[in-house]
Amino acid sequence: MVNGSEPEPLRESRFSCTRPSTSQGMGESAGDGDLSLTMNLYSKARLSFVMQHAKEVARQRRVRIEDLQSLDLLHYSGMSAVKSFVEEQSKSWLSFPMRLLDVGAGIGGPARFLASHFDLAVITAVEYIPEQARVLSELNELCLLTDRINVVCADFLEIEFHAEKHGLLVSQLSFLHMANKSLLFKKCNESLNESGSMFVEDFYA
Ligand SMILES: C[S@@+](CC[C@H](N)C(=O)[O-])C[C@H]1O[C@@H](n2cnc3c(N)ncnc32)[C@H](O)[C@@H]1O
Repeated sequence: MVNGSEPEPLRESRFSCTRPSTSQGMGESAGDGDLSLTMNLYSKARLSFVMQHAKEVARQRRVRIEDLQSLDLLHYSGMSAVKSFVEEQSKSWLSFPMRLLDVGAGIGGPARFLASHFDLAVITAVEYIPEQARVLSELNELCLLTDRINVVCADFLEIEFHAEKHGLLVSQLSFLHMANKSLLFKKCNESLNESGSMFVEDFYA
């Protein structure tokens, strides 16, 4: 799938990881620049806290995505931006996208929202940090969403998109971590089909 000689479809695996586990945050992605300084806010303590909360709910009943939304959104404006985007934009779509891509998926809040909104779609959630990707995957299991969300732990800038194209790319507060913007937008273009759309929420200068 990533760095391999044979391209594999992204959706074949529910959880795949090509990166070693690290407690140091991020290393250097293909986007140039050492990102470890900017990414240390993803502490193990925070991840444990979220998992503990989710497991407590799971002891009583099935975990709903709403149970997690105060904890699993690692961006500033909560769900309102992506929610208004999909609700407004989808009015003009002739058909709903069946394959969605979340770039820099964190622990999966946006991906799980997309899975609940587009109830037939499969979402590929790409996340760089192994610990985040693992929590993303475990929360999907508790929400019974493993069939709908494939977790790929990899540097988005290194993924080869061959036949695997997507109808919608979503990314919240992740593009700023990828310094090589021309490579980033090349990858976005490669990952989308001919009528694909992008929703990106981020800082820019
Ligand atoms: C601020 S968080 C946002 C997470 C998620 N989009 C959300 O809104 O909850 C940014 C995420 O982007 C991921 N990220 C940064 N660079 C990446 C890359 N090159 N490939 C994949 N993920 C990346 C980080 O590991 C981090 O989890």
